[in-house]
Amino acid sequence: MKKASVIANKNYHIASIDSRIYGSFLEHLGRAVYTGIYEPDHPTSDENGMRQDVIDLVRELDTPVCRYPGGNFVSAYNWEDGIGPKDKRPTRLDLAWHTLENNHVGIHEFANWCESVNTELMLAVNLGSRGLDAARNLLEYCNHPEGTAWSDLRIANGRKKPWDIKLWCLGNEMDGNWQIGHKTADEYGRLAANTARAMKLYDKTIELVVCGSCGSEMSTFPEWDVTVLEHTYDLVNYISLHSYFRNPEKHTGNFLALNHRVEEYIDTVAGVIAYVKEKKGSDHDVYISFDEWNVWYHSNEESNRFLDGSQGWVHAPSLLEDIYNFEDVLQVGCILNSFIRRSNIVKIACIAQLVNVIAPIMTEKAGKAWRQTIYYPLQLASKYGRGKALQLKTSSPSYNAKVGDNIPFLDIAGVDNEDGVITFFAINRNGKEKLDIDISLEGFKNPKIIGHTTIHNDDIEAVNTVNDPEKVIPIKGTGAKIESEKVYASFKPYSYHILRVETN
Ligand code: AHR
Repeated sequence: MKKASVIANKNYHIASIDSRIYGSFLEHLGRAVYTGIYEPDHPTSDENGMRQDVIDLVRELDTPVCRYPGGNFVSAYNWEDGIGPKDKRPTRLDLAWHTLENNHVGIHEFANWCESVNTELMLAVNLGSRGLDAARNLLEYCNHPEGTAWSDLRIANGRKKPWDIKLWCLGNEMDGNWQIGHKTADEYGRLAANTARAMKLYDKTIELVVCGSCGSEMSTFPEWDVTVLEHTYDLVNYISLHSYFRNPEKHTGNFLALNHRVEEYIDTVAGVIAYVKEKKGSDHDVYISFDEWNVWYHSNEESNRFLDGSQGWVHAPSLLEDIYNFEDVLQVGCILNSFIRRSNIVKIACIAQLVNVIAPIMTEKAGKAWRQTIYYPLQLASKYGRGKALQLKTSSPSYNAKVGDNIPFLDIAGVDNEDGVITFFAINRNGKEKLDIDISLEGFKNPKIIGHTTIHNDDIEAVNTVNDPEKVIPIKGTGAKIESEKVYASFKPYSYHILRVETN
């Protein structure tokens, strides 16, 4: 048995958490859109062809923001293909994912769907094959009330009220050589700055996300980020980061330590932001939008077989359909904890993606919708992780992993929910021994445990499936108690926990 101690002090906070760190992403890729959110023939579908069973699951996640329409897809996307009568919309080759896109879902369908699930739309413009002109026209189409060619076309296409989209991404992963229209940092930086300037001439209150490096392993990281911010600093509000996590060697200790690397990545980009700010003598602030992250490797073999092109051009094939296990619950919990711990600089984070494609929600065509294992840590964090992040002091036994030494067995984040309740999200990264923890509550009066939720399975590879969707689900934890203003709990090997404490 191991022991860890934590101190939470009522007066020591990291920052107010921006609830958009519990955001998501949906791309025209595989079955994310078609047979994911949109399936006109599905028995639950509404008059717009949107699946009500999926809407219900997304609402339950309480997703504050959703990035769309890509991803790699956006870098060759003509947004005008997705407006007007559906039978007149063109079918195009999607070169990014080697599929056919029939454009039956476009900006109208998706923006209206966002309203129905109560999520803010984060819209990406194509800076790969297109540029400033397409971006400014899309902005006018979406946001201008009436009386111009683009706004009147939107009205003619059935939407009177502008969507008033406030959050825009200036392209996607432009540092990656797989990206259509891939650019050098200077080329992209200039294009992003010019596009940002034009978009802000229309409305200076919109918020813009510029592409940072799409991974800390990129050979151009962090130089890319410096150069891009030197071009765009005062014009943008966020710089994007992306990370995907893999465990092909089946080494749980190394895998669960990867958020240590994520925090280094965030800290480096925070340093880049500070450097450029200082260099420019700017008083403007730029924050981080971690707008793609998730576990992604389970489906690689299957997807690669398709992506080599040998299966021809198909509409909405099954691609990137990772089936997540219990180990991934722990990983997603650790990553979300990192975002809470870095809530001073990370203001947006989007799990990639939302439905069917590396996603917490899965659907069967013409059948059921169900929750993957990773649905739960996301849903619970979105529900209980709002408020102020607590600056915890933690002392935990640790282990050495590939990404670094002294990785604490206890990964913990604390949130003052500001309604008299504090919530702790904790993971025991030790697979051999249980972990006893105590949390000293300084300045919190009359603490009372009002909830202990846990996720655990003796089989780290246990999965949920359409026919057995409740193998890995949250259950009520036992044994947590308060003694002399301290929380005591005992965590099984490899387990995920939420402890909620009422105080006054
Ligand atoms: O989310 C899947 C893909 O991963 C996205 O299209 C791309 O931006 C990233 O490489």
